Amino acid sequence: MTVSGGWTRLQPKLEATRRRVRSLESEPDRRNSFMPYTPERDSAYVDLDGQRLLMMSGYSYLGLSGDERVVAAAKAAMDVYGTGAHGVRALAGSLPLHEELEAEVARVAEREAALVFSSGYAANVGTVGALCGPGDTVFIDKYDHASIVDGCQLSGATVTRFRHNDPDHLDRRLRASDPSGVRLVIVDSVYSMDGDIAPLPELREVCDAHDALLMVDEAHALGVIGATGKGIEEHFGGSVRVDVKLGTLSKAIPATGGWVAGSAELIEHLRYQARPFLFSAALAPAQAGAALEALRILQREPERVAHVQRESARLRTILTEAGMRTGQSETAVIPLIAGSDERAYDYATACRKAGVIGLPVVSPAVPNTLARLRIAVTARHSTADIDVAAEAFLTAARQCRLIEA
Ligand SMILES: Cc1ncc(COP(=O)(O)O)c(C=O)c1O
Repeated sequence: MTVSGGWTRLQPKLEATRRRVRSLESEPDRRNSFMPYTPERDSAYVDLDGQRLLMMSGYSYLGLSGDERVVAAAKAAMDVYGTGAHGVRALAGSLPLHEELEAEVARVAEREAALVFSSGYAANVGTVGALCGPGDTVFIDKYDHASIVDGCQLSGATVTRFRHNDPDHLDRRLRASDPSGVRLVIVDSVYSMDGDIAPLPELREVCDAHDALLMVDEAHALGVIGATGKGIEEHFGGSVRVDVKLGTLSKAIPATGGWVAGSAELIEHLRYQARPFLFSAALAPAQAGAALEALRILQREPERVAHVQRESARLRTILTEAGMRTGQSETAVIPLIAGSDERAYDYATACRKAGVIGLPVVSPAVPNTLARLRIAVTARHSTADIDVAAEAFLTAARQCRLIEA
């Protein structure tokens, strides 16, 4: 078979990917990415090739993935609306269910209106692109999620990064920037790799001093922080407000989809200007039905939020007191810092052998001296599960010499 010139030119990129994957996942028991886990229906355990393991790297913070009420709501939505949404929202794709879901999101977010996208990624890309363009400036935290970074690049706006969770540095960046045009500051409420929280009151002050809008990504905050799981505003007592609130329906809310909430005027603008909303199919009925039911459960069962907050604080204390490096974590996301990429992979393998799944996050997602397992506590984890997890993480850490034996 002859290989065309086009493929020859692509070859170095394909080779680089293959080398990278093979260098870290050379042996079968070092494989960590794309592993097909089958979850048990009513527990935090999963099956992996016949082995029963405690999953500690999932995102279903409220433990609602597989909840029978959520599954029933998804089925009921399919019974009424079928499996697809027949196109984009602006044309034939809008369903009464989408409007019901948006009203519920607006209620939980305590805003006038909301808009639902087909993913959190699309919500970020669409929102940044609809609010900013050439001549505007977006200021992003160094650790902001990739979908925010991609949204900035596609928007054509000038992009300026400031140091992680450093309002003084943001202030200096704003002072040094072109004062004309829209100025949009974007932060994650909870950082997905570190589990720390954005300093909202200080960021608000800096934004106000420079006529900048403040947008937060609540992907890891909804259902996790705040007395009733409503996110960063509630966490800081409710008196500091953001201008644009955004999140996902794929973590604490066990579906797919993303959302933005704000003033009716803002949402109308996004409805007509956000390209991933305009030019991509509407959220599938089953996902909208599941998300709506889960949002209602979040409001009815605040004890789920309290459980996650209590058990994550307990697990973090056990691990840090035993000498584990957990960074600045103060939420359900806890990094277990191992050092180099290789050490993180070794640690993940040892954890799996000890019966628990903690998945590695390596460079370039994090600096390669700070490679880690990124673990998360959910409402599915019983107190006994957390004790089992702590024991397994520490046993594996001793074997890998991350802490003293
Ligand atoms: C902070 C943050 N924002 C946005 C997203 C994207 O959300 P989705 O998976 O719904 O596309 C993620 C997903 O991991 C995330 O962690």
